[in-house]
Amino acid sequence: MTKTIDTTGKDRVIIFDTTLRDGEQSPGASMTLEEKIQVADLLDEMGVDVIEAGFPIASNGDFEAVSEIAKRVKRAVVCGLARASQNDIDRAAEALRHAERRRIHTFIGTSPLHRQYQLQLSTEQVYEKVIASVTRARSHTDDVEWSPMDATRTEHDFLCRVVEAAIKAGATTINIPDTVGYATPEEFRSLIAMLIARVPNADKAVFSTHCHDDLGMAVANSLGGLLGGARQIECTINGLGERAGNAALEEVVMAIRTRGDVLPFYTNVDASMLVRASKLVSSVSAFPVQYNKAIVGKNAFAHESGIHQDGVLKNAQTYEIMTPESVGLKESSLVMGKHSGRHAFREKLGELGFQLGDNAFEDAFRRFKDLADRKKHVFDEDIEALVEDEVATRSELIKVIALTVIAGTGGPQKAIITLDVDGRHETREATGNGPVDATFNAIKSIIPNKAKLSLFQVHAVTEGTDAQAEVSVRLEEDGKSVTARAADPDTLVSAAKAYVSAVNKLMTRRAKTAPAAVAEAG
Ligand code: KIV
Ligand code: ZN
Repeated sequence: MTKTIDTTGKDRVIIFDTTLRDGEQSPGASMTLEEKIQVADLLDEMGVDVIEAGFPIASNGDFEAVSEIAKRVKRAVVCGLARASQNDIDRAAEALRHAERRRIHTFIGTSPLHRQYQLQLSTEQVYEKVIASVTRARSHTDDVEWSPMDATRTEHDFLCRVVEAAIKAGATTINIPDTVGYATPEEFRSLIAMLIARVPNADKAVFSTHCHDDLGMAVANSLGGLLGGARQIECTINGLGERAGNAALEEVVMAIRTRGDVLPFYTNVDASMLVRASKLVSSVSAFPVQYNKAIVGKNAFAHESGIHQDGVLKNAQTYEIMTPESVGLKESSLVMGKHSGRHAFREKLGELGFQLGDNAFEDAFRRFKDLADRKKHVFDEDIEALVEDEVATRSELIKVIALTVIAGTGGPQKAIITLDVDGRHETREATGNGPVDATFNAIKSIIPNKAKLSLFQVHAVTEGTDAQAEVSVRLEEDGKSVTARAADPDTLVSAAKAYVSAVNKLMTRRAKTAPAAVAEAG
C-alpha cells in the first residue's frame, strides 16, 4: 500500500527544542536551574512548540528543572524524557505534574546493536517493552511521544512493527532518531516515507525527526524527513547536543522560511529572536559559536571582499538571501553614557528583552554607572553582559570584593584577593605561573577545592582595548562539570569573578544530593 503525502499547500512544522535535554547532555554544556529557566522562557517566547526540559530520572537537578519549567511555561508543551521503564515514566509524569500542556517522551533502542549489546533483549522483549512503556505513559497524559533509538540502523520490518505497536498503544508522536548521525538526506527522507506508507495506523501519529550531526548532515536530514512526511523536527539552539550535536534550530527555521519554494512548510518560531537565543545558549553553556556558523555566526552577514561589499551596497540581494534583521541581528548601538538616568536604562533593558525586579534593577543600574565611568562607550552588548552577570551572581554566597595583581616580565606574578564569604571578608595572597594562576591560587587558599579547571576562555564583548572581557571557566569534580562566566573591563577581575562563580555553583551542586541514575540517552 502506498500513501501519498500532500505537499501542495504549506504545512505547519512543529518545532521541538531539545537544547535543555540532548543539548545539555553534551560534555561540558551543563546549565544551572536558573540558566535552564532563562533558556526555557526565551524558547517559549519565541514560539517553539515543544520544550524538552530534561530527563527527570537522571538526577534531582534534572527533575527540579523539568518541574520548575513545567510550572512557568505558558505556551509551549513541556516534555520530559523517560526510558522504557515504569520508574522513569512515573518520575517524568511527576516532574510534569504542574504543566499546562505536558508530554512524556519515552524511548528504547531498537537496532540489532542496541538490542544485543546495550539492552541484551530479544526483538520480542523490546516489542513488549514498547507497548508497556507507551501504555504507562498514556496513563499519565494524552500527549505521548515514542522513539526507537538508533532507528536508522534498525531492520525496516522490525521498525514498522514497533512503530505500529507504539501507535496502537497510544503514542501520538513517532520520533525517528538518527542517533549516531549516520543517515544521508535522501535515505532519511525515504525512511520516513517508507514508515508512513507501510505502517497501517501511521495517520494516527505525527512523524518527527531527531538527527545528529556526526557527518554534518543533521539539518539536511531533518529537512529530508519533512519531504518524506515528517511534521515535527527535533533540534537545538546552536546545534548543541551529544558529540557533534543535533540539527540547529536556527538553520532549520531559516531554511524553511527562505526556501518556501522547495520546502512548502512554515513554523511558528519568531525568527527575529534567533540571534538572542543563540547568544544566550552560547553564554550559559560556554560553547562559543563559530564565526562562520550559518544564521547566527559573527560573520554570517559580514561582507569582506570588495566585490561583495559593492554589490550589497547597490542591492543587498546580490549577496544576501535573507536580511540580518530577519534573524534579529541589529547594528550594535551606542547606549547612553554616564549621564543617562534610570528611565533611559530601564527602556534600554526592555529593548534588549530584560525584565528585572526592583532590587536586581537597582544593582544592574549601579553596575552600569560604574562601567560608564570606566569605559568611554557602552554598547548593547556591554549591557547584555552586565545584566547576565548580575542575574547569574545575585544569590551567590561568595563574592569578589577586591583584587590586586602584580604581573609582567619580572615574575613571580602575585595576586592579593579579598572575598566576601557569606558576609565575612577574607584577604589572601598567592603567587603563580602568570597572573591568572596567581589569582586562582589566592582564591583557592580561601576556598580550597580539588576541582579540575577544564576550560578557561576569554572573549572581548565589543571592540577596542577598553572592551569588557567575558571570561568563562569550567570546573570538573567527580565527573560532573560546572561552567560560569563573568564580564569586566579588567580581564583578571572577570577571571576571578568567573572562577568564584564556578566555585559557588560547585558548592550548590554538592549541597544537593544528585544520584546519577542514568546517562544513556543519545
Ligand atoms: O539521539 C537519540 O536517539 C535520542 C533519543 C533519546 C531520542 O536522543
Ligand atoms: Zn539525541
